[in-house]
Amino acid sequence: MTPENDKPQSESPELREKIVALDAELTEDFKAQFVVSPFLSRKIVSFQGNKDKPAYGWYKYKEAFSAGLVEYFLCSYAGRMSGKVLDPFAGIGTTLFAASAQGISADGIELLPIGQEIIPARLLAEREVAPDDIAKLERWITDLPWKASSERVPFSSIRITENAYPQETVAAIERYRGALQQENSKIQTILRLISGH
Ligand SMILES: C[S@@+](CC[C@H](N)C(=O)[O-])C[C@H]1O[C@@H](n2cnc3c(N)ncnc32)[C@H](O)[C@@H]1O
Repeated sequence: MTPENDKPQSESPELREKIVALDAELTEDFKAQFVVSPFLSRKIVSFQGNKDKPAYGWYKYKEAFSAGLVEYFLCSYAGRMSGKVLDPFAGIGTTLFAASAQGISADGIELLPIGQEIIPARLLAEREVAPDDIAKLERWITDLPWKASSERVPFSSIRITENAYPQETVAAIERYRGALQQENSKIQTILRLISGH
């Protein structure tokens, strides 16, 4: 594909007109089904609703739903629902964790690596971290062990991230990754997520 083809095609006025007409037709067809719910504000349907919720707001994933929205639908369908929740577009797992918090088992599929990293890391943090793991994590906050690490593990870059960091930041990230090697796999998963590398 050439860079020219990569550019999004601009919407022609005819196409725009057609979309507006189809939208109006659909709105008319389903008019009787629409219910306006004041609860479903912009905040509650988007990631913004997770801002003050522990864990849901670990990573600002703008495509995520809010946990409140998922809870709203789960409550609305309570009694009419059986089995488990399947989220085939799981993002960072908001629906999965919100369902699971209500005692509903949930499975998800996600295409992007960020979701594939965050979901297992949150599962580990919430379900499998033992008190001595917490103590180790606390030591990472207080002692900053990577600063003294002689071990350095390089990380790969892509074209747009080349030279994105000053050399001392690259060295600090590599030392952080080096120090991580000393930890068990649970701690590694959680701390890798925190570093974003
Ligand atoms: C609106 S977000 C999902 C929000 C999520 N359901 C929640 O509870 O917050 C849509 C997600 O679908 C993912 N996605 C898109 N195409 C996909 C595919 N073919 N298979 C799996 N995931 C996909 C995107 O990466 C994105 O994370």
